[in-house]
Amino acid sequence: MVRIALGCSASAALHKGADLSSKLTQSGHEVRVVLTARAAELISPQLFEALTSQPAHVAEFGAARKGAMDHIQLSQWAEMWLLAPAGADLIAKLAHGMADDLLTTAILATPLSVPRLLAPAMNPHMLGHPATKRNLDLLEGDGWRILGSGDGHMACGVHGAGRLLEPAEILARVAAELQR
Ligand SMILES: Cc1cc2nc3c(=O)[nH]c(=O)nc-3n(C[C@H](O)[C@H](O)[C@H](O)COP(=O)(O)O)c2cc1C
Repeated sequence: MVRIALGCSASAALHKGADLSSKLTQSGHEVRVVLTARAAELISPQLFEALTSQPAHVAEFGAARKGAMDHIQLSQWAEMWLLAPAGADLIAKLAHGMADDLLTTAILATPLSVPRLLAPAMNPHMLGHPATKRNLDLLEGDGWRILGSGDGHMACGVHGAGRLLEPAEILARVAAELQR
């Protein structure tokens, strides 16, 4: 059982992120959720706190800031990073080493020995765009394990690739990663 930092970006699949945080917790992991500020506009951090019995983190600056150096504390706490849902914007930022909020800064500050998994969630055109493909390749080269995505109906009304994997599938991939 490990300490998992679960990062979620703004996505129509955030309900699956909430379910995942619950399933990981029920599996015995200690789970701390880090939402992007936009994700926190779509879903309440309080829900994640209730599901994980841990503080959920959002902003690095401004009134919502909790600790003096949350990003460093998180980077030292995490034994695994799991991003689900990971949207196109978050993937692009990480691929280019950007660190302009708590989530991206904490990830950049985490030792490379810590395993990092990422489950994309986005519209099929966003996923198939050469820029996103390039960014995913860059992240894979940096050691990220890209979990892939499912096919089917998207919240935006189209069919195709880019659906966030089901929480049970992500849970299984986390278990497999921990046995490596
Ligand atoms: C309701 C809603 C759902 C969205 N779902 C997604 C999504 O699943 N994947 C994605 O890449 N962008 C999605 N977006 C667009 C992102 O919110 C946008 O790219 C934003 O800049 C992401 O910010 P963040 O990376 O800081 O969370 C969605 C936007 C809205 C309003």
